[in-house]
Amino acid sequence: MSRVKAAVFASGTGSNFEAIIEADDLACDIALLVCNKPGAVVIDKAVKHGIPTLILDPKAYASKEDYEQKIVEKLHESGITWVFLAGYMRIVGKTLLHAFDRKIINIHPSLLPNFPGKDAIEQAYQAGAEQTGVTVHFIDEGIDTGPILAQESLTIYPDDTKETLQTRVQAIEHRLYPQVINQLVLKNL
Ligand code: GAR
Repeated sequence: MSRVKAAVFASGTGSNFEAIIEADDLACDIALLVCNKPGAVVIDKAVKHGIPTLILDPKAYASKEDYEQKIVEKLHESGITWVFLAGYMRIVGKTLLHAFDRKIINIHPSLLPNFPGKDAIEQAYQAGAEQTGVTVHFIDEGIDTGPILAQESLTIYPDDTKETLQTRVQAIEHRLYPQVINQLVLKNL
C-alpha cells in the first residue's frame, strides 16, 4: 500500500519542518514544503533534504482565494492528503479549509487558548506566566483556534530568559509534533 503524502507549510526558520522530516518513524511522506516567504531559511532546509518546494508570494495574487486555489491545485496534483502548519504565519482561508476539511493541523508555542497569535513565547514571558507549553490542534477560521489534539506544559522558572524558554518550548515542539502526526495519520490509514 502506498504511503500517505503530506505537505508542511512554513514561513521562517523551519526547525519544526526539520524535526518532522528527520523523525525516525514518520508514518507519512513529506512530499512538499509550501512557503509564502521567498528567501526563508526553511527553503534551504527543504532543498538540503531533497523535498520539493512550492514558494508562492501571496502579494503576486489578486486575492487570498486565488493564492490558496493555486496551492490547492498543487496539493491535489501531488496526491497530498494532510497539511501540517509549522510556523506558517498566515491565516488559512476558506479555500484551503474547505479543500482539506479536518486535514490541516497546526503547532503553537503556548497552552491555547492562552497567548494566541505572534510571539506567543514572548507573550507568556512578558505576562509573568508561571506555565506555558505547546499545543497541536486542528485549524479553523480563527487565529490559533480549533479543536485541540495535544498539549504539553512546562514551568517558566524565575531565572528563565526568553532564550532559555524558547529553547525548552521548541524542544517539546520537535518531539510532540511528529508524535501527533503519527497518531493522526495511522488512525486514518
Ligand atoms: C514555532 O515555535 C511554531 O510553534 C510557531 O512558530 C515557530 C516556528 O519555528 N507558530 C506559531 O506561532 C503559530 N501561531 P520554526 O520555523 O523554527 O519551526
